[in-house]
Amino acid sequence: MADALRIGIAGLGTVGASVVQMLGTKGAELTRQCGREIATVAVSARDRGRDRGIDLGNAQWFDDPVALARSAEIDVFVELIGGEDGAALASVRTALETGRHVVTANKALLSKHGVQLAAIAEKKGVLLNYEAAVAGGIPVIKTMREALAGNQVSRVFGIMNGTCNYILTRMEAEGLSFEECLKEAQRLGYAEADPTFDIEGHDTAHKLSILTSIAFGCRISADDIYLEGISNITQADIRAAAELGYRIKLLGVAQKTDSGIEQRVHPTMVPTSSVIAQVHGVTNAVAIETDMLGELLLSGPGAGGNATASAVIGDIADIAKSRPGFQHGPVFGRPARELQPYKRARMRSHAGGYFIRLTVHDRIGVFAAIARRMADNDISLESIVQHGDATETEHKTVILVTHETTEAAVRKAVEGITRDGHLVDKPQVIRIERAA
Ligand SMILES: NC(=O)c1ccc[n+]([C@@H]2O[C@H](COP(=O)([O-])OP(=O)(O)OC[C@H]3O[C@@H](n4cnc5c(N)ncnc54)[C@H](OP(=O)(O)O)[C@@H]3O)[C@@H](O)[C@H]2O)c1
Repeated sequence: MADALRIGIAGLGTVGASVVQMLGTKGAELTRQCGREIATVAVSARDRGRDRGIDLGNAQWFDDPVALARSAEIDVFVELIGGEDGAALASVRTALETGRHVVTANKALLSKHGVQLAAIAEKKGVLLNYEAAVAGGIPVIKTMREALAGNQVSRVFGIMNGTCNYILTRMEAEGLSFEECLKEAQRLGYAEADPTFDIEGHDTAHKLSILTSIAFGCRISADDIYLEGISNITQADIRAAAELGYRIKLLGVAQKTDSGIEQRVHPTMVPTSSVIAQVHGVTNAVAIETDMLGELLLSGPGAGGNATASAVIGDIADIAKSRPGFQHGPVFGRPARELQPYKRARMRSHAGGYFIRLTVHDRIGVFAAIARRMADNDISLESIVQHGDATETEHKTVILVTHETTEAAVRKAVEGITRDGHLVDKPQVIRIERAA
């Protein structure tokens, strides 16, 4: 049998502790599959004295993850610290530069430094594996990079944040407000004490930026993502969506258009009958649309210790099975130096259907004025519905669903309606996404 693969794990929190535990309980089976043992020979975390409920065996302790990364005693450095810079970046860079394979679950790190790190890995002939960084346990990286090679991807989109999907699912199922569902998510440990990063879409954006690079062969460009979170979604939106045959999901969408690449994260209406609309609670899902395959949807647990550890261990096992001296495939599906500069499509040129909810004064001529603003901007309407407001007799709700139009036209029409002075409240605009 080949020599054991010696791994060093930096970060022994939710994911790191699960990885150590699963490598212990599944050691014999992994050895059979890989033809060699996977041995955890060294670990690092901040607090050596903390009881983590795991057996670290004889693993050597390092206070400094960078020292662990350059240790001659390891073949693979597993980074489970988190954060886009700091200890995670310093240790991953050191490991790659000193010729160690790296496995990481760190989307923030890859979103910011992925291309630069991939270039080092490819130059050194080592692997930089990161399946766990996008949608946790769902094998979307390998699917896109390996199984779909030869396919031309036109769009990739998905539910990549369990916190947001949990909140939206509860809002619809229980008729509760955003704030009530957020509190419940925090109580259950699905949302952080400071939930901004999740609910404002930043976490989804990190993951989307990585998928965009693999899908379209371009450099990662998280700064070019159009971002809107879910904190202004109300029960009125959820109910109107349901009446019209839609469900609201926070989607990350990357799409190739004639003018460049669209990357956007925002609340989205998807047809209730679509497969992605059936993805509930903390579950994640990623849909990939290609020329040869049509739409493929992968769904499963996107976070949590065991689900994420499953992807990390899959990445470690790939390294254990790889042959010495074998040239490894490029990190983002094509060599880092060949990734194209990112060409951003302007959000104003986005084409699609729109849901627009307006709360208006109940006055003669309002309806006609709204319809005129739509017509002036060449927006054709699929439906226009008017509801009385049960609590406020002087106000009415008008819900418009447009046929395909552009973001620029919708913004101009809504600006016009606002200027006309008929609105009681801020208008709500939600994009509609095609989904099978
Ligand atoms: N949790 C999930 O469900 C999930 C899902 C997918 C991806 N991920 C990613 O996985 C990574 C780890 O997440 P997590 O949830 O396991 O985080 P976590 O529970 O906060 O654990 C972080 C670990 O890193 C250690 N650490 C922090 N700074 C360090 C430093 N300077 N030197 C050495 N160790 C240091 C901490 O040490 P102490 O324990 O001593 O404080 C802790 O053990 C992140 O990149 C995250 O985005 C997480």
